[in-house]
Amino acid sequence: MCGIIGYTGADDIVRALAGGLEKLEYRGYDSAGIAFAEHGRLRVIKSVGRIALLEEKLADVRTDARCGIGHTRWATHGRPTEINCHPHLSFGKKFAVVHNGIIENCRKLQTLCENRGITPVSDTDSELIAHLLELNYEGDALSAVRRTAAMLEGSFAVAALCSDAPDEIYAFRRSSPLIIGVGKGMCCLASDGCAARAERTYLLGDGQYARLSSRGAEFFSHGKPAAPKRIQTADAGSCERGGYAHFMLKEIHEQPEAAARTIEAVGNRRLRGEVLYLGCGSSYNAALAAIPLTERGTGAEAHAVTAGEFLFSERVNGRGKTAVLLSQSGETADTVAAAEEAKRRGYATVSITNVPRSSLTRACRRNILTHAGPEISVATTKGFTSQAAALAALLTGAEEEDAVRRLPFAIERALGCDGDAKAVSELFASCRTAFFVGRREDCGAAYEGALKLREITYVPAMGLSAGELKHGTISLVEEGTPVVLIHTDPALKDKTLLTAATVRARGGTVIAVTADDEVAAACDFTLRIPFVPPLLSPAVSVVPLQLLAYHAAVRMGRDVDKPRNLAKSVTVE
Ligand code: AGP
Ligand code: GLU
Repeated sequence: MCGIIGYTGADDIVRALAGGLEKLEYRGYDSAGIAFAEHGRLRVIKSVGRIALLEEKLADVRTDARCGIGHTRWATHGRPTEINCHPHLSFGKKFAVVHNGIIENCRKLQTLCENRGITPVSDTDSELIAHLLELNYEGDALSAVRRTAAMLEGSFAVAALCSDAPDEIYAFRRSSPLIIGVGKGMCCLASDGCAARAERTYLLGDGQYARLSSRGAEFFSHGKPAAPKRIQTADAGSCERGGYAHFMLKEIHEQPEAAARTIEAVGNRRLRGEVLYLGCGSSYNAALAAIPLTERGTGAEAHAVTAGEFLFSERVNGRGKTAVLLSQSGETADTVAAAEEAKRRGYATVSITNVPRSSLTRACRRNILTHAGPEISVATTKGFTSQAAALAALLTGAEEEDAVRRLPFAIERALGCDGDAKAVSELFASCRTAFFVGRREDCGAAYEGALKLREITYVPAMGLSAGELKHGTISLVEEGTPVVLIHTDPALKDKTLLTAATVRARGGTVIAVTADDEVAAACDFTLRIPFVPPLLSPAVSVVPLQLLAYHAAVRMGRDVDKPRNLAKSVTVE
């Protein structure tokens, strides 16, 4: 997914930025570019495709500039063309901007620009930020930054250059990370800890902004100096751990990138016809959550069966149908055996797995890889979301392609509920049982939320369809029993409100996972997620559930990454 880099110091700017972009390359992107100030003018060089192509353009560039910004773009607004590629210049060429994220009020801002006689040249939301900076500029770039940030809605990390201050970089962000590094005679910034290398590194606070120069970094909030949060400098070897307390937490935070890489890798491949999903544990849950999307995408009935059960099911002829086998590890014995069995029954076999050259890829005729990177924690997180992202990409038509490309950003925003999840996790650390309920696609997410909690806290937790609760299980709800209610589809709101009321009438504590204010108001607690098209939501709605389980397990002193009795891949049937 998109990346930002910036450098000001003594080094050759073109080499410094190219080196930074290479470190961001693993995140997945479709175009890249850099900007620097040269003799009082901003110069921009960009290219569609790989960084190597940009580097070809940079090979002959000689400059005495020592300050600049760079970007790897993951297009959400407009195709991956050179015009849409970042950095973007403002109308008077006073500002150059790189942006990660999505500006949700871009239509309104575009009208505002057009009313001032500015015609954007690209299709991006990002270009508008450059224009706003220049519109808000009265000789002081920091004030322009503060005013511009206040006009933006959505998620953003922005780095900007101003031609009047050629050795300074301005940075501001909301809901999208930006790390600032300060060393001797230099400052750098990056959207990724692995790319921001310096003696001291800081996380720019949400809503804060900063000015960087070779003399150091200054941080601000609401027009006043602010203290940034110091974070661990990641050295090359420890990048894999990134200073997180547990692999699970680190992997939870890697989900936006994992999803973005996966979506990019799926490209324009699509699933068609009648589909039978086979998998175990979380991989089965990911399939279950994708059933409604699959039925819409293929126009045919779809089913999910656990791989273990499929082996002993009736040997119905699978000719003309596709068996899709999901496995993070690619080594789960039941799933590999199910692939062989599916072939015997005549199904076309397709794997969705995170490990190339695994037993499962060898067993299946076609393979689709998720690009989550190695997953260490026994409880899967990015494994699930990258499968959900792969399925979203494989099953949507052209009309929802943009929404799929925005999923990584939505996942990133869902991570913003971490503080609330930590607070609410107290309910789970002290309960006897817990329930996770939802309808349709939310039901698969509910299954996964319950599995996460069971695995790492050992609290008996059950996931079920919200509609099923009243058919027996509600007898277990007593005073204070936590019931997590996932709600993503506005069309199902009345049903959701009824479920909340029914549980609360019996003393249960309802925790909503939703973007909907009315549902939030009808529940005891809410973990906020951004709105995404409901059928695409499992990759997003699962995030608060993972955080909930994680924080509950930490509170209870559990061995988060290696829960008792469990193995990362189950290689016996
Ligand atoms: C997930 O948190 C579990 N550890 C487990 O259910 C897992 O999903 C299951 O064993 C399947 O693993 P796989 O995706 O590697 O095949
Ligand atoms: N929304 C912006 C665009 O489409 C930024 C995407 C990104 O973060 O790379 O250009």
